[in-house]
Amino acid sequence: MRGYADDEFAFLYHLHICISSHLHIHYMKILMVCLGNICRSPLAEGIMQHLVKQEGLNWEIDSAGTGDWHIGNGPDRRSVKVARDQGIDISKQVCRLFRISDFDYFDLILVMDESNLSNILAMARNDEDRKKVKMLLGDKPVPDPYFDDAQFAPVFKLIEAGCKEIIKQYSH
Ligand code: 4NP
Repeated sequence: MRGYADDEFAFLYHLHICISSHLHIHYMKILMVCLGNICRSPLAEGIMQHLVKQEGLNWEIDSAGTGDWHIGNGPDRRSVKVARDQGIDISKQVCRLFRISDFDYFDLILVMDESNLSNILAMARNDEDRKKVKMLLGDKPVPDPYFDDAQFAPVFKLIEAGCKEIIKQYSH
């Protein structure tokens, strides 16, 4: 079969956007951000992917960190375990650094705490970038569990609740 010419593709893409917005289907691209990208944001990525799949939503979810210590590593084993206990596999994720182009690609950048918020806002180029950045839980932080093993289970619950709230807010 012949491929689509550019204008045919543009027409079909426009049609897709029109139908989607008419049906109030919002295709979201969400980036979860924390400091190390090994504890909280990998959990947020895995939990959100799990929930949107359950809801039948075709959203794209990724995560990144503002610190570069763990680039290329998998998530912290304590996050892997607490997720696995709830039937979610995050073990294949690979830590990456936040990049400026994430402001262009993603619709929403959800940070875990105020420190992540100020780190990301310091990199924002304009109001359009700034408008995309929110704390996952709105007004309260997801605490950093890195130095406290006992925090991983409650952090999972906080992130799960935050993700459910985001789905409620943006899925219709
Ligand atoms: P995260 O936790 O931001 O939830 O991934 C941390 C992981 C590593 C470090 C700090 C926080 N660290 O300093 O290496």
